[in-house]
Amino acid sequence: MDPLSTFRLDGRTALVSGGGGAIGSAIAVALGGAGAGIVLASRTPDHARAAAERVTAAGAECLAIAADVTAEAEAERVVSAAIERFGRLDIVVNAVGGGAGKVLFAAQEYPRDAWDWIMELNLRSTLVATQAAVREMIRAGHGGRVLNISSVRAQLGIAAGYSAYVAAKGAVSSLTRQWATEWAPHGITVNAIAPTFVDTPQVAMLLDDPAFRAGLVGRIPLGRVGETDDLVGAVLFFTSAASSFVTGQILTIDGGLTATQ
Ligand SMILES: NC(=O)c1ccc[n+]([C@@H]2O[C@H](COP(=O)([O-])OP(=O)(O)OC[C@H]3O[C@@H](n4cnc5c(N)ncnc54)[C@H](OP(=O)(O)O)[C@@H]3O)[C@@H](O)[C@H]2O)c1
Repeated sequence: MDPLSTFRLDGRTALVSGGGGAIGSAIAVALGGAGAGIVLASRTPDHARAAAERVTAAGAECLAIAADVTAEAEAERVVSAAIERFGRLDIVVNAVGGGAGKVLFAAQEYPRDAWDWIMELNLRSTLVATQAAVREMIRAGHGGRVLNISSVRAQLGIAAGYSAYVAAKGAVSSLTRQWATEWAPHGITVNAIAPTFVDTPQVAMLLDDPAFRAGLVGRIPLGRVGETDDLVGAVLFFTSAASSFVTGQILTIDGGLTATQ
């Protein structure tokens, strides 16, 4: 057997929740390039459409849906559309999230509205999209792959007013292990990637500050921040047959940052 063929996704369908975003769209292009049919769900229609154009330009079939995946009915609608278009759903990648840089508050003052927003954006989006997708995988009985996007912030504090975000990502990492345990009997694996800062518009405000960037890069042994393409290899591993015996794992993609802590 060609060992590289275990990374192929031909005949599979992948739902990329938040596929209109910087990381989600890079993931959608990569999964499509590996042979999967792509269902891309994102909140803003123009973002979903633009990302879908990149996926189809790379030669993959892509269905783009504008949806709010924090709402159960919307997530159900996305899954139904996936089944209607591709006949099956094998993979869900949860790439909705972020927001931390927009709501920086001292831990002792962290306001409830900002807390709830970050939890909704990072935790409820992951929960609701996954529940809808996994109900379908269990019904179909063919197993599946869930890939969450956590963050090194699930395990590292940061002196920047990140209380809600670290709590949300900590919960995403915990759910990754819980779901892996509960859904293993259904042949569904659940893993997460946990990047450090990835150079995207989401974190531009922080990375554009030369002092912040220098401090960050100075702590990363490989001497740079991440790029969206740095995530792709791990995504293909966790969503393909290459990782058949791997579940409940959280892989930091951080240039060695956590190795130094
Ligand atoms: N960038 C980093 O440095 C970094 C580091 C570690 C982890 N992460 C994590 O990686 C993930 C992706 O981050 P990113 O930088 O790619 O952020 P991003 O560019 O803002 O992408 C997030 C996407 O999610 C969509 N979205 C937001 N709320 C939604 C909802 N309720 N329903 C459906 N779609 C929704 C957004 O839609 P629209 O904009 O189209 O409305 C956007 O396209 C997040 O979980 C983030 O925490 C990022």
